[in-house]
Amino acid sequence: MLKETRFARLTQNSANKICIINTDTLRFVEENETAHQIRLLEPQRFDAGKDRLAQFEVHLPGLLFQMRQGLQGTLDFPFLSNACHDLLGLEPTQIYARPSRFDALIIDEDKASWLDSLRISAQQGQSLNWEGRIRIDAWQDIKWINIRATPQACRGQSMQWTGLMSNITQSKKQEEEIRQSRKQLAELAAHVEEVREQERARIGRDLHDDLGGNLTAIKMMLAQLAKRLPSDNADCTQRISDLDALLDHSIESMHRLAADLRPGILDAGLVAALEWLTQELRHQTGIDFQLASKHTDIALDPKLATGLFRIAQEACNNICKHAKASTVTLLLHNTQSELLMEIIDNGCGMDPEAARSPDSFGLRSMHERSVAMGGTFSVASRQEKGSIISVCIPVLEQLEDCEPDC
Ligand SMILES: Nc1ncnc2c1ncn2[C@@H]1O[C@H](COP(=O)(O)OP(=O)(O)OP(=O)(O)O)[C@@H](O)[C@H]1O
Ligand SMILES: [Mg+2]
Repeated sequence: MLKETRFARLTQNSANKICIINTDTLRFVEENETAHQIRLLEPQRFDAGKDRLAQFEVHLPGLLFQMRQGLQGTLDFPFLSNACHDLLGLEPTQIYARPSRFDALIIDEDKASWLDSLRISAQQGQSLNWEGRIRIDAWQDIKWINIRATPQACRGQSMQWTGLMSNITQSKKQEEEIRQSRKQLAELAAHVEEVREQERARIGRDLHDDLGGNLTAIKMMLAQLAKRLPSDNADCTQRISDLDALLDHSIESMHRLAADLRPGILDAGLVAALEWLTQELRHQTGIDFQLASKHTDIALDPKLATGLFRIAQEACNNICKHAKASTVTLLLHNTQSELLMEIIDNGCGMDPEAARSPDSFGLRSMHERSVAMGGTFSVASRQEKGSIISVCIPVLEQLEDCEPDC
């Protein structure tokens, strides 16, 4: 018999019993108390509790429910609050009478995930948290709902959940819009990068073929001119020699500029290009840059090769600028389905603040390039222990002809 007045009758449930809720904790307490016992409650306090509960129910952002799963897996609903019709398009009594009406609302594509969530929650005693779509034929509407509930084992090993169903269609739409606009931004960034790469290649070619050609022609003409000069004119000979040295310097600068824009060695493949990069950097900086690759060649789409090369180039530039490292390893490792590239330095490690800064365009562009190639990007770093930049891209088709590492 109920002795306390803090219990209130909520509603009559599917079994025509009375649901009792503790109005302090708002938890279901017992459903087997009879109307007779309820009448024992102090009438005024009972009404106050009932009002409070009704107010609570009106302001709830969803449908309060109690759901039970029998040993055969079938569901029934001992309790559904009044928001049932607004959310599911059915009155509680309609679902009490035929609980399978609820399952029928869930669209076919989402049924498996619903059953999985139920099973996991029941087996592991974890809270149920499911998002999926329901179709309400009468309104010709599909909406997203979220079901959150706490499981509780019942007599006879059946399971019971108490929780809330809410309409999340709006937030799902916003989520989808954000996802779409992120995708479009990423596509745009990838396109801009591709156009930039083409431009760099074109300018590099023009520099090499046009300017380089002219400089070489000038050098040859200067050599012919030098032959015709009287051998006793020391001043002219010196000037010609200075001009020749200047031309050599200009040709070298032009080659460097063209290579910076797009190293021609990329046409020989990623491994050759990275070998060239490490050699150049070793020469320029004195840091021990090494390439570690079991492959002498990896058959890759040229766009992927260029993307990976640019990432390696930026990571190496960062090491030269910030890391104070003495050794750097560029590691290439491929399996049947993935190509992993790591740039490992033994420098001072990254300042986490600097790495997270929205102004870290170098790191961001490495990340975006990796994602645009369908891959992943990560940075690991420890103070005074160095940093590791890792890029992993799927390359199933491209690597078909290559020997995998493993
Ligand atoms: N290998 C590294 N070792 C130590 N710090 C690093 C390393 N790589 C990056 N950082 C830190 O991360 C920051 C962000 O790098 P990021 O490449 O985005 O920008 P940046 O090199 O400073 O400028 P930008 O690349 O635009 O010329 C750097 O300023 C530096 O503090
Ligand atoms: Mg940088």
